[in-house]
Amino acid sequence: MSVQTSSGTGAFRTAVVPAAGLGTRFLPTTKAVPKELLPVVDTPGIELVAAEAAEAGAQRLLIVTSPGKDSVAAYFRTDDELVKTLESRGKGELADKVRRAPGLLEVDSVYQYEPKGLGHAVAQAGPALADDEQAVAVLLPDDLVLPTGVLARMAQVREEHGGSVLCAFDVPREQISAYGVFEVSDTGDDDVKQVHGMVEKPAPDEAPSTFAAAGRYLLDRAIFDALDRITPGAGGELQLTDAVALLISEGHPVHVVVHRGGRHDLGNPAGYARAYVDFMLQHPEYGEDLRTWLNERLKD
Ligand code: G1P
Repeated sequence: MSVQTSSGTGAFRTAVVPAAGLGTRFLPTTKAVPKELLPVVDTPGIELVAAEAAEAGAQRLLIVTSPGKDSVAAYFRTDDELVKTLESRGKGELADKVRRAPGLLEVDSVYQYEPKGLGHAVAQAGPALADDEQAVAVLLPDDLVLPTGVLARMAQVREEHGGSVLCAFDVPREQISAYGVFEVSDTGDDDVKQVHGMVEKPAPDEAPSTFAAAGRYLLDRAIFDALDRITPGAGGELQLTDAVALLISEGHPVHVVVHRGGRHDLGNPAGYARAYVDFMLQHPEYGEDLRTWLNERLKD
């Protein structure tokens, strides 16, 4: 479903994907292959995220990358030679797979030259937006939010309430310190909460709730002004969470859509393995074999 309208306040054209990190948890592979290009079965994680953005109506993917990681944006270029070769060999299905990423949406990139945090990465996207873009989506490529569709719901909530809308997951309190955490109150809708504060990576006993930011943001353009005004926070980094908290303190409306579905964290080998196995088990060709083998393997 596309919620893209030319005038609606929920509309956004650009989806920003921060992908400048070193991928240290996947060294030594990430010496040569950016983390965002690691395959989930056969498709790089960033293509799954790009497809989600396109499905929600984004027309442009703006990848925030770093020098040396140009292969992330290059992955979205067309490869007519390869497509022709595959087609001439009767491999039309493979040719379709190769054509998919470049056909999803327009792809641009900007550099983040220094690793100063997620807030700093998102700030690099500001100058690349057109004057009439009132909102921007941000998708963290480490996070797979399943099934897709939460961005469209977030756009509806922005239409209704204005301001910025984020995606929240209810996580066990003992895991909360890995996340940005929301202080919330109820609205008439069980899956939509109003946000009164946000704190990055709090200790479990200091977390204002168990609702955690899950890597999907629909941010009013005002975020860029707030990002200019924050100082380093958790981990000594410029945090997107702190810019959202600053906006809230100034009266900017912020809501969350609570996503009750699944989620995978592609940002570390353990989460990546789960995502890979999960997608494999649903694969029409490989799923059954893997299930049989896993059942045997787990008996050992
Ligand atoms: C980032 C954000 C955090 C959010 C998380 C979701 O943290 O800073 O607010 O909850 O992504 O995955 P990171 O995982 O980069 O430490």
